[in-house]
Amino acid sequence: MKSAMLIHSLTGNTLSVADRLLESFRHNGVETELIRIEPIGGEDRNETNPGKIRFQTYKNVDDYDYVILGCPVRGFSMSPVLKSYLSSSGEMNNPKVLIFVTHFFPFSFMGGRSAINQLKKEVEKKGGSVVDRAVIDWKNPAREEQIERLIKKWNRTVK
Ligand SMILES: Cc1cc2nc3c(=O)[nH]c(=O)nc-3n(C[C@H](O)[C@H](O)[C@H](O)COP(=O)(O)O)c2cc1C
Repeated sequence: MKSAMLIHSLTGNTLSVADRLLESFRHNGVETELIRIEPIGGEDRNETNPGKIRFQTYKNVDDYDYVILGCPVRGFSMSPVLKSYLSSSGEMNNPKVLIFVTHFFPFSFMGGRSAINQLKKEVEKKGGSVVDRAVIDWKNPAREEQIERLIKKWNRTVK
């Protein structure tokens, strides 16, 4: 099995979850690559128009069995950076897709749920098939359990 993680993270929360997942995948023998999604010239957090965000390169993920997409929630939506990246990169032909978002508030109805639904739709527009999704509520006292659950479940999925 081979997987690619495409991760947008500004302040490190989403990346920290991805790093733990990466380590566990590799530990379990799943060949995994983590690609940070970063706009040209760095991120302008005030830019909310995905049409104005540009990237140097796009990763072709057709040769991977699984693609993991992660991003922060921005104003009850997925991050404009990942939205822009997905809409300007090519179709997704083969891989199965696992998606997650991190958000500040303690409950998923405070932004996480709407953002993950949006991310799912964006993946499906590109022909990708979402096999699972997760929301990490950063201020929820059970955050650590949420992350551990995601790691355990997705390790079983990609095996
Ligand atoms: C402009 C902006 C808007 C945000 N909007 C929300 C929101 O609607 N709901 C929420 O729970 N968190 C919101 N957040 C907080 C981030 O989603 C949260 O801190 C996330 O974990 C950051 O991920 P990162 O460290 O990977 O960048 C917002 C943050 C920023 C900068």
